[in-house]
Amino acid sequence: MTVAEYIKKVPKAELHLHIEGSFEPELMFEIAQRNKVEIPYKNVEAVKQAYQFGNLQDFLDIYYAGANVLLHEQDFYDLTMAYFKHCVEENIVHAEIMFDPQTHTKRGVEFSTVINGIQRAREDAEKNHGISSLLIMSYLRHLSEEDAFETLQQSLPYRHLITMVGLDSSEKGNPPSKFQKVFEASVEEGYIPVAHAGEEGPAEYIWEALDLLKVARIDHGNNCLTDPKLVERLVSEKMALTVCPLSNTALRNVDDIKNHPLKQMLDLGLKVTVNSDDPAYFGGYLTQNYLSVIEALDLSLEEVKQLVRNSFEYSFLSEEEKFKYL
Ligand code: HPA
Ligand code: ZN
Repeated sequence: MTVAEYIKKVPKAELHLHIEGSFEPELMFEIAQRNKVEIPYKNVEAVKQAYQFGNLQDFLDIYYAGANVLLHEQDFYDLTMAYFKHCVEENIVHAEIMFDPQTHTKRGVEFSTVINGIQRAREDAEKNHGISSLLIMSYLRHLSEEDAFETLQQSLPYRHLITMVGLDSSEKGNPPSKFQKVFEASVEEGYIPVAHAGEEGPAEYIWEALDLLKVARIDHGNNCLTDPKLVERLVSEKMALTVCPLSNTALRNVDDIKNHPLKQMLDLGLKVTVNSDDPAYFGGYLTQNYLSVIEALDLSLEEVKQLVRNSFEYSFLSEEEKFKYL
């Protein structure tokens, strides 16, 4: 069996996936039409052509514009179910899914509309396909901490449906320290903290995520490689990093997939996992992300098995549930 055959078939977990980033142009058009919302593209091809990004902010501008068509519970159900269909095709048996409530509540969509649509899809995916999932409620870091506190309050009636809180959107200029208090309050409510750090921002932001937000996992984290002391700490604490290869090249944080640091990170003993981030925008779902690094970095079967094991080991499944896959 080749490494490529192995990764296509093996049961996998995905730990870094923005549900709004799985919004395919075809579904975007369908929902825009039924909701009678104008979108600034003539057709699906024109949407795809707009997906050329110079950096994270270029992408975010288009990602938030795409999300504008999502209005009703059924829209959030359809969006989430479309992702689970990819999970079925790729044998992704567990997914930890981020959603950005503020992207929707800022437009007047109720928190309940968002979560009820996503939740119904999760239940159907579990019942019909045996796919387990957990939810990460991500605060938008370009907005204020006060705004995040409001989102925390809105989430409390749904506390039992959400496992983690996260931090995403424009990283530079919005350090983790800006959200220390709301993360403390979120942990008091029982949420597990994770955060994007070191994607475009400096290693310093990863230190802050660890020391101030007390995160249990780092999303991306690539820029730890500029700071040997930080690498040492991440290794010794077995702190997982959810790396997203095709996102890194699409947003030009890595110039060429052949120069992706994933293998270097593995060799250093970092607990890395492979993920898709925003697959509708970055050119591939989870398997494609694995295949891109397998080919470009010539990863061995052993290395890929390690990455797949990490995806379960550093998930927030219970020890008993992890045991089924490890
Ligand atoms: N980085 C930061 N924020 C995001 C991303 C990302 O890749 N995707 C969606 N929100
Ligand atoms: Zn992300």
